[in-house]
Amino acid sequence: MFPNSGGPEGATPLDPDEARGLKHKHVTTRGELDELEQANMQLGVAWLTRKRNGDVLTLEFLRKFHDRLFGEVWRWAGRFRLTEKNIGVAPSQVAVQLQALCDDARFWAENATWPPREAAARFHHRLVQIHPFPNGNGRHARFAADEYLKQYFGQPPIDWATGVNLQADSARRTAYIAALRAADGGDYGPLLAFVGA
Ligand SMILES: Nc1ncnc2c1ncn2[C@@H]1O[C@H](COP(=O)(O)OP(=O)(O)OP(=O)(O)O)[C@@H](O)[C@H]1O
Ligand SMILES: [Mg+2]
Repeated sequence: MFPNSGGPEGATPLDPDEARGLKHKHVTTRGELDELEQANMQLGVAWLTRKRNGDVLTLEFLRKFHDRLFGEVWRWAGRFRLTEKNIGVAPSQVAVQLQALCDDARFWAENATWPPREAAARFHHRLVQIHPFPNGNGRHARFAADEYLKQYFGQPPIDWATGVNLQADSARRTAYIAALRAADGGDYGPLLAFVGA
């Protein structure tokens, strides 16, 4: 059995090929998978914290960071999606749209288009909307938005979860997904409130 069902609201299911990319063949429950991913993510975040150079607004950095977050668990970590998902652009559009987002986010910082947290919220939303990877997009894009705040604005990270586990179902998770859906429709108000902008 592969633990692909029973994820929280707004999670993206893996297709069978992607599920076969699991490096640990003994995993049989979602709890075990969550633990492996959690341990891997700590390594990825440690890598990010140690890093002294490297521009977050590049495809190379965004891919490398995804690989550091999930590469011990998933063979496809750090590689762009090849399949369609219920969220996200067509696979052939991922690199193009991601480059456009990086260019836009750099422009926002250089021209003070938005206050820092608003810029980070917009960057986060566009990143999850593109959905570059088969899985792990939410977690990757939350850290990436924090790194954007740090590198381009010298600002502290967003308190995404406010102490709860944002990966599990909770009122905070529901508010987060609802805010992203409002942003899909062009209304950034709920997402700005969510990130405290
Ligand atoms: N309507 C939406 N518009 C934009 N982004 C969305 C929408 N619904 C969900 N998302 C984003 O997609 C993420 C889920 O994608 P994916 O499963 O690849 O990431 P994840 O890191 O595994 O998820 P999570 O950590 O949230 O459980 C959500 O965390 C959220 O960031
Ligand atoms: Mg997921």
